[in-house]
Amino acid sequence: MTDFPVVESVPALRARLKDFRNKGEKIALVPTMGALHDGHLSLVQEARRHAERVVVTIFVNPAQFGPSEDFAKYPRTLPSDLEKLASVQADLCFAPTMEAVYPPGFSTRVEVDGPARADLEDRFRPTHFCGVATVVAKLLNQAQADVAVFGEKDYQQLLVIQRLARDLDIATEILGAPTLREADGLAMSSRNVYLSKAERAAAPALYAALNEAARLIGAGEAIEATLARASAALGEAGFLPDYIEARHAKTLARIAGRRDGPIRLLAAARLGATRLIDNLAVTHEA
Ligand code: PAF
Repeated sequence: MTDFPVVESVPALRARLKDFRNKGEKIALVPTMGALHDGHLSLVQEARRHAERVVVTIFVNPAQFGPSEDFAKYPRTLPSDLEKLASVQADLCFAPTMEAVYPPGFSTRVEVDGPARADLEDRFRPTHFCGVATVVAKLLNQAQADVAVFGEKDYQQLLVIQRLARDLDIATEILGAPTLREADGLAMSSRNVYLSKAERAAAPALYAALNEAARLIGAGEAIEATLARASAALGEAGFLPDYIEARHAKTLARIAGRRDGPIRLLAAARLGATRLIDNLAVTHEA
């Protein structure tokens, strides 16, 4: 068991952060739900580029799971998470108790419009972004860090959090960090552990479909027809696609053609009982 420092309450967090600030050190926050993998550790490394101190939060937030989703079985691996945080020289883990986040009588919800109602993840998980926005607003307030880093893997989430921070005048700068992938292209995710061996073998088809669609759209192929072929390819690989769409990269607005870009492709698809999401930028060929 590592002796990596963990605090569980807001006063304890703030006392540690005060020590850092008194030394003139900048603070970066990396909010997570734990079950840390190399993708999370790359967020810690990105955070380190912006601040002397990196604080990682670990909290499996019930409010962002729908009633039929995996809150109960979501992997909880705190001891090994702490070892991983020590291995990348993070400075502190904030693993708040349920009471520290949702004390008795808690009655506030943060509802973001705009990117949270883009008809992508929100179509399939209607209460998800309210749960995310509420907990992230709390974590940002609790820490009042200089920067906070979120993965581009959850691209819609990143835009929702940037919108939230702007709208509520939260002073923490919200930064996105690129998705880390397995050697075969599968985006790293804590939920990949749910995949059976056969599903794991099929899973890289999601990135492959996005990659091929991004290449073709970047080369000038018609967007709708290309995405229809990508969706069919996903079906052939054993996925049940929820959506695969081309949207404006900054607003998630629907686009009519390449000139409406910059374009981000976003996809979600179910493989057996596991739902995977991924996204990719379209870069235009010269
Ligand atoms: O991306 C996640 O892990 C979660 O949605 C977050 C941002 C930590 C909020 O619970």
